[in-house]
Amino acid sequence: MSSATASARSNIALVKYWGKSGSGDNRTAVPSLSLTLAALTTRTRVELDAALVEDEVELDGTAVTGKARERVVRVLDELRTLGGKRERARVRSHNDFPTASGLASSASGFAALVVAGSAAYGLGLSSAEQSALSRRASASAARSIFGGWTELLAEAESASELFPADHLDLKVVIALTTLGPKAVGSTSGMLQTQATSPYYPAWVSEAPALFERAKRALAERDFPSLGQAMEESTLMMHASMLAARPALVYLRAATLDVLERVRQLRADGISAYATMDAGPHVKVFVPSREAPSVEAALRGTTGVEKVVVSGPGGGARVEAG
Ligand code: DP6
Repeated sequence: MSSATASARSNIALVKYWGKSGSGDNRTAVPSLSLTLAALTTRTRVELDAALVEDEVELDGTAVTGKARERVVRVLDELRTLGGKRERARVRSHNDFPTASGLASSASGFAALVVAGSAAYGLGLSSAEQSALSRRASASAARSIFGGWTELLAEAESASELFPADHLDLKVVIALTTLGPKAVGSTSGMLQTQATSPYYPAWVSEAPALFERAKRALAERDFPSLGQAMEESTLMMHASMLAARPALVYLRAATLDVLERVRQLRADGISAYATMDAGPHVKVFVPSREAPSVEAALRGTTGVEKVVVSGPGGGARVEAG
């Protein structure tokens, strides 16, 4: 009986992916740039068992069923096809952060599944091949195969690492805001934006220039310019969502309060920049030395339930045991 365990960390996009390319296969319409985080980890064990008649999937001790299970089975089917294997698998996955918190779990989840699964099925896949498999399951997962600063170009098969985790000495301070009703997931949210938002074409045409600006600022270790490009990408993405029919409003009152607090911090001379994904939480990028004061400021902001601080993290890997 063959088995393997892998870990992968979540990543936060500074330049956002929002929209699928017309070429299909879950390729992205826009380029994205992200940082893999150390603090949000998924650990997944894949165990092949010839006695199983179908794949069994469990997340944090609960059986995964329906569409979520099918998404996992599709990845396992691809691995079986590549390896010429038939055995079904028992998949046990564990997030070290609350799955329902609205923090991205599909990125670390699918990256860990692909790495554990390819080891269990005995495939010697390169990181690029693992990234391509992860992208087909969830495009942001393509970036979690790598550590540090990663890009996923529009239409690309796989992501690649731009700079290692220690390229910039910074922290990400994550403010978990009051949870509203369950948000529309990213996959259906972006399809809805794409199909109905009159601002979606503008978003797609602006995104490459934002990406180039961010990439240049990152190469030059120009943190304020990087942060500025990140905020613009974030707000343009949310503008395209807000103009969807019906509107996709992921931002809550607390989200805007945190954003305002970050602007005040900047006015006070603290170099802090914010981003939000398909949810109400705010992730604030700050130089490491500023992290304690930013953490304290966000803890004291109305509507902030919890604050998590993370440094940059490494790529997905097979673990012992
Ligand atoms: C807002 O990667 O979750 O977090 O490919 O449909 O699984 P699918 O979407 P997903 O979308 C992530 C969207 C985002 C921005 C980003 O991470 O780039």
